[in-house]
Amino acid sequence: MKFLICGGAGYVGSHMVRYLDSKQHEVVVYDDLSTGHREAVSPDVAFVQGDIGDAAALSRLFAAHRFDAVIHFCARSLVGESVVKPYLYYGNNVANTLVLLAAMRDAGVDRLVFSSTAAVFGHPQADAIDETHPTEPINPYGQSKLMVERILADAARAYGLRSVALRYFNAAGADPSGSIGEGHDPETHLIPNVLKAVLGQGAALKVFGADYDTRDGTCVRDYIHVNDLASAHLLAIEYLADHAGAFTFNLGNGEGFSVREVIAAAERVTGRPVPHELAPRRAGDPATLVASSLKARERLGWQPRITQLDEILASAWRWHLQPGY
Ligand code: UFG
Repeated sequence: MKFLICGGAGYVGSHMVRYLDSKQHEVVVYDDLSTGHREAVSPDVAFVQGDIGDAAALSRLFAAHRFDAVIHFCARSLVGESVVKPYLYYGNNVANTLVLLAAMRDAGVDRLVFSSTAAVFGHPQADAIDETHPTEPINPYGQSKLMVERILADAARAYGLRSVALRYFNAAGADPSGSIGEGHDPETHLIPNVLKAVLGQGAALKVFGADYDTRDGTCVRDYIHVNDLASAHLLAIEYLADHAGAFTFNLGNGEGFSVREVIAAAERVTGRPVPHELAPRRAGDPATLVASSLKARERLGWQPRITQLDEILASAWRWHLQPGY
């Protein structure tokens, strides 16, 4: 199949491109490089620099290629930033997505996989969050993703768009080759910050709160390997071949690990101490966020492969050891 990968130079997007390439699919990456990295996409893959809000550029792109499906990773994705810059989030994540959706409709491309997030749920009301959990986002980032999910439901009815929104829990790790990985600026995610602390890049890791109602007082999250996210996207596209409508699936490992457990795992994997200090809670962090991915396993036939925390950390560590990662 031939795919348009919007945001294919970003963290999850670049792993998706690798995965599709390994399955002999044809790929065109479209990315404005505002947060992505050109070097994360192999020179052998077609790359077009552009913005999904640019209707004319999209129209040229769809005229030049006959895509079977679009996978849409472009987004602003920092919860804290979304609270102080909501226009940026609604503009980029919602308004620009509408431009992409209209271009797809005009070009007759009717299959889409959309990157959504656990942030659509807001405060968790269950130990394991499944797709029936209420969606009550508590920040503009989660709101913006939920708005797109609702638009996709309307687009299915009005235009026959077939879509899957995949709600990632904590995307983690790196391709086992060590050649691509997670590189945000600024980096706010736990695992890269833990590994940076190991490498002595910057200050000690700050542990945001140790007084949560969890087994050791630190927040518990469900870390899912980025290549397992990639495999779910391809299964979702295949699912849409014989299922019309707009679907949502939660993607996680189904097991939670605390911040302290991640630190201990990083010390095992790297053989080095993780310099860290206790800091106040970070605003908006729920104590526990763990997925039930039963629906994805049953309907998509999805099976995460890299499920051990140590293995996830080892893959991220390999990437962090590359010069100039
Ligand atoms: N943490 C630290 N120190 C750090 C970074 C993180 O203690 O330097 C803690 C956080 O407080 C949190 C946990 O580690 O308890 C995980 O934090 P991340 O920033 O790695 O990830 P989040 O759980 O905040 O983010 C995830 C997804 C988002 C989604 C959000 C919803 O990555 O897309 O959950 O709450 F929006």
